[in-house]
Amino acid sequence: MHKIAVIPGDGTGPEVVREGLKVLAAVSEVEGFEYETVEYDFGGDRYLRTGEALPDAALEELRAVDAIYLGAVGHPDVAPGILEKGLLLRLRFELEQYINLRPVKLYPGVDCPLKGKTPEDIDFVVVRENNEGLYTGSGGFTYKGTANEVAVQEMINTRFGVERCIRYAFDYCRRRDDEKKLTLCAKTNVLTYAHDLWWRTFNEVGEEYPDIERDYAHVDATCMWMVKNPEWFDTIVTCNMFGDIITNLGAMIQGGMGIAAGANINPDGVSMFEPIGGSAPKYAGKDVINPLAAICAVGMMLEQLGESKSARRVEQAVMWVTANKLSSLAAGKMGHSTQQVGDLVAQAVGEVPAEA
Ligand code: IPM
Ligand code: MN
Repeated sequence: MHKIAVIPGDGTGPEVVREGLKVLAAVSEVEGFEYETVEYDFGGDRYLRTGEALPDAALEELRAVDAIYLGAVGHPDVAPGILEKGLLLRLRFELEQYINLRPVKLYPGVDCPLKGKTPEDIDFVVVRENNEGLYTGSGGFTYKGTANEVAVQEMINTRFGVERCIRYAFDYCRRRDDEKKLTLCAKTNVLTYAHDLWWRTFNEVGEEYPDIERDYAHVDATCMWMVKNPEWFDTIVTCNMFGDIITNLGAMIQGGMGIAAGANINPDGVSMFEPIGGSAPKYAGKDVINPLAAICAVGMMLEQLGESKSARRVEQAVMWVTANKLSSLAAGKMGHSTQQVGDLVAQAVGEVPAEA
């Protein structure tokens, strides 16, 4: 029995999570695994009511579940950073989800903004470090609000944190597919301490993986190649901030935020799965947002829970729907409502074979 905590969150989060859970129910029916869900109402509304983003007691409960399924955080009436730091980043850090795994895959039938690129060309994964870098909140102000103000935001890189991320990336690259290339995306020409540590660690750990080709690209070049030659990439490993940025670029070349999913992984603990886009308040409650990213996040969750066949079924069903049913992946332009897209995938899960 898998115990899944569900945090629908803000904006369109609840709508897309509902469709993800619909698909989860459908695939559990087909494959016969059991699960239970526990829902938590964290997010902007609760914060505005109670002043709490994530109560300590709830965090303790979340340590005991098998997975967390998150919709979106971000509320127009809550100042930037409060929910992000208090809820999303706090979960990532407290639960030591040190990997943020973000596949960039162009599915059949999906419009790609890159001329001439097909699903054959766009199929790679970004392994983003998820617990360090510029995200630790280390730093501060002096003389705040004066002409002499100094703002420091420190980029924290530990050998331990960098190494476990790089090791995960090599292992992941090895098991992902037949292509065996790991690209380190960094900025060794400027971050001559922080990314020197990444570079040395990458090469030292890489010696243990002679079957995997080591490749390097500066982050600015990575952005260029992702647009010009996305077929060059297989697995990319990168720091927290660069991973944040390049995965939004990745989302665009795979068809938009409507399809991009990610997993916050603690390989030895509790992992959390989410669509990588935001709460899109302007679309909330309109039944127009694309739920596929949230549905793909369910696929990633099933993989992590050991339900690999179910995970493949979800992905195949999504691919069947993008290939045959949708006029676009954009909100309001899919040719179907949010709920109808969920229905289509839920139905396809039992009808499309798990293997392509
Ligand atoms: C993401 C988001 C978050 C991040 C924000 C909401 C803190 O952009 O998941 O990519 O920067 O990691
Ligand atoms: Mn982001």
